[in-house]
This record gives sequence, C-alpha cells and structure tokens, in this order.
Amino acid sequence: MTQLDAVLRPPLSDPAFRRDIVEGLSASPKATPPIWFYDRRGSELFEAITRLPEYYPTRAETAILTLQGTAIAEAIGVRRCVVEFGAGSLTKTPLLLRAIDPSAYVPVDISGDFLRDSAGILAEDFPGLPIVPVEADFTRPFTLPAAGCPKRRLGFFPGSTIGNFEPAAAVDLLRSMREALGDEAMLLIGMDRIKGPDVLVPAYDDAAGVTAEFNLNLLLRINRELGGDIPVGAFAHAARWNDNAARIEMHLVAKRAVAFDVAGHGFTIQAGESIHTESSHKYDGRTARLLLRAGGWEPVEEWHDREELFSLHLAKAAG
Ligand code: AVI
Repeated sequence: MTQLDAVLRPPLSDPAFRRDIVEGLSASPKATPPIWFYDRRGSELFEAITRLPEYYPTRAETAILTLQGTAIAEAIGVRRCVVEFGAGSLTKTPLLLRAIDPSAYVPVDISGDFLRDSAGILAEDFPGLPIVPVEADFTRPFTLPAAGCPKRRLGFFPGSTIGNFEPAAAVDLLRSMREALGDEAMLLIGMDRIKGPDVLVPAYDDAAGVTAEFNLNLLLRINRELGGDIPVGAFAHAARWNDNAARIEMHLVAKRAVAFDVAGHGFTIQAGESIHTESSHKYDGRTARLLLRAGGWEPVEEWHDREELFSLHLAKAAG
C-alpha cells in the first residue's frame, strides 16, 4: 500500500463492530454495546471523565485502596498471583501490588498495545515482580499461562466495569473468571453503589460536556469506520436513572427525524427516539453479594469509601 492509499482508504472495519452496530440500529428500541466507545479518542475521553469533579467512582475506589490497603492485604494474604482483567490502571494497580506483595502480576487485555504500554510502566516501579501480560478477550472463556502464575490467584476487576454488563451477562463473566482462576482463587471487584439521581445523573452528564462528547464520539466512529453518514449534530447526549433496573442509562436522542446509512444499510429514527448506548448498573451490599454468589463466588468482605459511594468486594471461589 502506498502512503496515499493509507491516507485515502478508510480504516478496515472490524466485522464484529459492523455486526453489533447494524444489529443494534435495526433493533427496537435501538441499542448498541458500550465496548465500541473505546477507539483512541474514546479512550482519551474516558480518561478525562475519570478526572471530572462529578465522576466520583475512580476517586472513591482509589481512596478505598489507599485507606483500606492494610485490611485488604490481611484478608487476601501474601504471595498471590494477581490477574487483572483489563490492562491495569496506573493509579489503582500499584496501590494493590504494594499492599499485598504478590508473587506475579498478569494483566489480561484484548489490546496488545495498551497491555504492553501499561505492563512496561509497571515493570519500572516493581523491578523484582514477574509481569506476564496475556493478550485475550476476557469476556470469552480463556486460559491463563500455567507457568508464572501458580494456583493461589487473585482476580482484580476494578472500576465497576462489571456494571456495564447486563446482570445475566455479568453472572456469565464472573463464572468464566472463576473457571479461569481456579479453585483456590479470590476475586477483588469494584462495584458502584446505588444512590440518588442527584449524584448519579451529573456523574454521567457533566457540566463540561466531556461525557456527552464521549457518547457522541461513537457516531463519529461509526461514520468513519463503517462508511456512515449520520448527522452527528442531530443527536443529543442524555443520562437517565432507571430506578427499576438500578442503572444509569446513556442515550443518544434524535433532536429531529433523521434518515441515515451505515455499512450499506438504511436507518430512520424519529424525533425524541434514542439509541441506548450504555447501561451502568449499580449494586448495594445485598444485590452485589447475590451477583457474586450467582457467579460462583462466596463473598468474604466488603469495603467502602467514607461517603459510601463505591464498594470493593472480596470473594473466594465457591466449592
Ligand atoms: C467503564 N465504565 C465502568 C464507566 C461507567 O461508569 O459505567 C463508563 C462510563 N460511561 C460514562 N461515564 C463513564
């Protein structure tokens, strides 16, 4: 390919992206999976979200790891092999690794580049610690390398990412983690707590408009990678608390009736109709424990930040 080809040709689209978006826009109501937010720009915008004054989850979870590090370490015990689902947050992961003196660290992520970057940075801070990156989609069944990560494993799934899965899919994911980690495993998992819409809605619809840009970026990505012609300006970001389902929903609401094409398919949307782009489920102590048990984990202990906004749960593999 010449340099000019590389510039003129749109990036090759991922067939799974094409399938999910065409299916999602054909469904009624329209809904697309949140995994597709995270192209390069989407990942940058998410990083910016985690620093917003209204978005408390990252700060609250970091505070729990900082303030409760000793208690967490006591409950976990030393010399476990830490398996992190996701490439690893460069603020949260070091707090855990420092607190529990692990035997090895295994970050699992679908993006090889992201994985290598964050593993490289962590290696500088933890020179004696074996780091074994695994490039895999942890939302599907996968196996861990037997060498380098012996049996006493600790799964680490921070960030309340579990909340972005529908409860049935969350149970499947917890079961597949249980399967991959083995009988002697423990799991440390972050879940965002149920609270009032006065706190939740601004956290997903911030005054600076960063979350709106994050949501609308999906349409730009669809246009660019799937040959779409969606008039992005015809859509507005909305964050809605669904009390029945205990979740915040993000929507892209059509401001007027629109017709557009994506990947050779024609779609229409009425004024006021929306594309449901993300659900972020919230859990209180009981529903969190119910979810863990359904996923094959026995709850052991739970920690909160001072304002009780967020929770970290420790569980052990159920027999
Ligand atoms: C990645 N995930 C846990 C975030 C959340 O809070 O559900 C994604 C997000 N969406 C909007 N703001 C943050």
